[in-house]
Amino acid sequence: MAQITTQRLFFRPLESADITQIYVDWLNDPEVNRYLEVRLSKHSLESCSRFVEAMNAATDQNLFGIFLSDSKRHIGNIKLGFVSSYHARAQLSLFIGDKTCWRKGLATESIGAITIWGFEQLKLMKIEAGCYEQNLASLRAFLKAGYQVEGFFRRSFILDHKRVGGFWMGILPGEVLRGL
Ligand SMILES: CC(C)(COP(=O)(O)OP(=O)(O)OC[C@H]1O[C@@H](n2cnc3c(N)ncnc32)[C@H](O)[C@@H]1OP(=O)(O)O)[C@@H](O)C(=O)NCCC(=O)NCCS
Repeated sequence: MAQITTQRLFFRPLESADITQIYVDWLNDPEVNRYLEVRLSKHSLESCSRFVEAMNAATDQNLFGIFLSDSKRHIGNIKLGFVSSYHARAQLSLFIGDKTCWRKGLATESIGAITIWGFEQLKLMKIEAGCYEQNLASLRAFLKAGYQVEGFFRRSFILDHKRVGGFWMGILPGEVLRGL
């Protein structure tokens, strides 16, 4: 697979050498996992390895590590998953585990790159994403990349012992923003 690159990042499938304690610690970090379903379980090197192996073996999942171009440092993951070949549709999700990399536009850049890859390489006709209503960083990043809110799921999740809602977003091939 050709490497996917942007101005500051590159993306590639994860290998066993990428499964480090730093990666495991991201998933167990309450600030990183606050709005992610991964917070519902405890993670280890073994569970991360099993997850990466399963994703790499699945034909309907495309998991990439997000790496800084200059230092080659792994900073998070992005997944274009649940690919329906019949509907030419998939779901995008991501996390930036390295908190020193937050608020630099790297999520927006990652979403843009993998969205373009999905349209061009997988020939998708629709990409969707969801986030908890409180996750304004995620919502903003997807909107800045060209996604639109298509729906709101009322009181669908439990967060801090309260029921909260979630935004559902989507993008079509002609709407993708380039050069993010
Ligand atoms: C959500 C996440 C991916 C955003 O990553 P990021 O690289 O910091 O995002 P960007 O720098 O591209 O910022 C996108 C927009 O969100 C805004 N933003 C970033 N953090 C924010 C915060 N905590 N609160 C409100 N807005 C925020 C940015 O200012 C920017 O908007 P602007 O250009 O209008 O100012 C990152 O915080 C993260 O990985 N969080 C944990 C996992 C997660 O929640 N993943 C998404 C699941 S749906």
